[in-house]
Amino acid sequence: MSLLKRKKTEEAEANGSGDAEQVAKPTKGERMGQAKDLAVHHGTHKSIDVAGWVDSRVNATGIFTAMMSRHVPKGTNWFYTLGSATMFIFAMQAITGVFLSMYYTPSATQAYASITHMTNEVFMGEFVRGMHKWGASLMIILIFLHMARTFFFGAYKYPRELNWVIGVVLLILTTVMGLTGYLLPFDQRSFWATIVANNITASGPIVGPYLADFLRAGPDFSATTLSRFYALHMMVVPGLIAALIGAHLFFVVKLGTTAPPWVRAGRPKGSMPEEEVTAGVAREDFEDVPVNGAVAAAEIEAEPPVEEADAQAAEAEEVEAKEAEETEAAVAPEEPAEEAAAEEAAEAPAEEAPAEETDAPDDSDTSGEGEVTP
Ligand code: HEM
Repeated sequence: MSLLKRKKTEEAEANGSGDAEQVAKPTKGERMGQAKDLAVHHGTHKSIDVAGWVDSRVNATGIFTAMMSRHVPKGTNWFYTLGSATMFIFAMQAITGVFLSMYYTPSATQAYASITHMTNEVFMGEFVRGMHKWGASLMIILIFLHMARTFFFGAYKYPRELNWVIGVVLLILTTVMGLTGYLLPFDQRSFWATIVANNITASGPIVGPYLADFLRAGPDFSATTLSRFYALHMMVVPGLIAALIGAHLFFVVKLGTTAPPWVRAGRPKGSMPEEEVTAGVAREDFEDVPVNGAVAAAEIEAEPPVEEADAQAAEAEEVEAKEAEETEAAVAPEEPAEEAAAEEAAEAPAEEAPAEETDAPDDSDTSGEGEVTP
C-alpha cells in the first residue's frame, strides 16, 4: 500500500466518514514490502546471501583485496612469476597425486603391479601419471630458477632473510619429495637408485648415518622402507611444504617484493633532490648522521644540559629587553632640542643657568615644561 493510500485511510478513520472500511488495511506482506522499500531508499538495506553471510564473518573479500591489490615495485617483470609458477606446480602435484593414490598400493609385492595397472588400464591413468612425473622435474627446475631470481635480485637481504631461510627449507623438502617419490614404482631402477641415494645420505657428516637409518627404516632395504617413503611422500612432506608456502607468502605480502637491482629507490615526495642534500657534506659527517630509530635518541643527546640551557635563556631575555628598548626609542617622537636644553638647565643650579640664557623662545613653550624653575 502506498503512503498516499495509507494517509487517506488514516484521514478517513479520523473523520469517521466511513471511507475507512472501503480502504483496505495493509497486509503483513505489504507492510514488509514498505519497510524494505524504505530501507532501500535510505540505503540501510543490504541483501543477505550465503556468500555475504560467510564473507561478513571471515572477511574473505578484505583479505583477497589486500592480497591482490598490493603495490608492486617498478621494474617487476616475468622473473617474478617463478615463485607463483612453483606454487602452481606444487598444487598440480597435489591434485594429480590424489588421483594416483586411488590406484596405488604401497606394498613391496603389489606396488609395481598397481603402477602398471593404472598406466595401462585406468582411464587417463597414463596422462595423470605423466603429469605427476614431469611435474616433479619441473618443480625442481622452477624452484631453482626462483631461488636464482631472489638471489640475483638481492631479495634475501634485510628484512627478507627469514623468507630466504623458509625458502631453503622448501628447497630441501622439495628434493625429499623427489627422493621419496622415486622409490614408489618399486621397479629395478627405482629400487637400486634409491639404495645409492641412501648410501650417499649415510656418508654425510654427523647426522648422515642417522638420517639414512631413519629413511631405510631398518638395517636393510625392505617393505618397511617403501611404507616409510610412501608416508613421507603422501603426508608428512606435502603437509610441511603447504604450511611453509603459507608462511612464505605471508612474508611476501607483509614485506612486499624487492625491486630489481637496476631500479633505484625513489625519494619520498617533496623531499630535497639528493644532490642538494649531499652537496658540501664531508664524508665523515655522513657517518655521524643517525638513521631510523637513532634519530630520536640523537635529538635527545643534542639538547644542551640544563645549566647551559638556563644561561642561554637568560642571554636571550637580555637581548630581547635591549631590542625592546631600542625599538621604543626609535618609535617615540623625538624631543625638541629646546626641551632637552630646558631640562638640562632645570637640572643645573638656578644662578648658573639663568632663564635668559636658554635659547627656548617663550612662545614655543606653551606647556610650561620648558620653564626654568628656581
Ligand atoms: C615450494 C617452493 C616455493 C614456492 C611455492 C615459492 C613461492 C614464492 C612466491 C609466490 C613468491 C612471490 C613472487 C615471487 O617473487 O616469485 C616468493 C618469493 C620469495 N621466495 Fe619463494 N617459493 C618457493 C621456494 C623458495 C626457495 C627455494 C627460496 C630460496 C631459497 C625462496 C625465496 C624467496 C624469497 C627470498 C622471496 C621474496 C622475493 C622478493 O622479495 O622479491 N622461495 N616465493
